[in-house]
Amino acid sequence: MYICLCHGVTDKKIEQAIDEGATTMRELSKELNVGSQCGKCCGCTKKILNRKLIQI
Ligand code: FES
Repeated sequence: MYICLCHGVTDKKIEQAIDEGATTMRELSKELNVGSQCGKCCGCTKKILNRKLIQI
């Protein structure tokens, strides 16, 4: 599912970036550009990040 429409980033891509070591929104934004345009994807991206970090 697309999370960031501005940059075409899917939930899988976000999860993969977290698996590869990203632990903050800043890192995800730097790597995938999420949240760097309209910002509408920030809430969803944060949810994925928090859910994944709890699992680690
Ligand atoms: Fe991600 Fe616009 S949807 S910056």
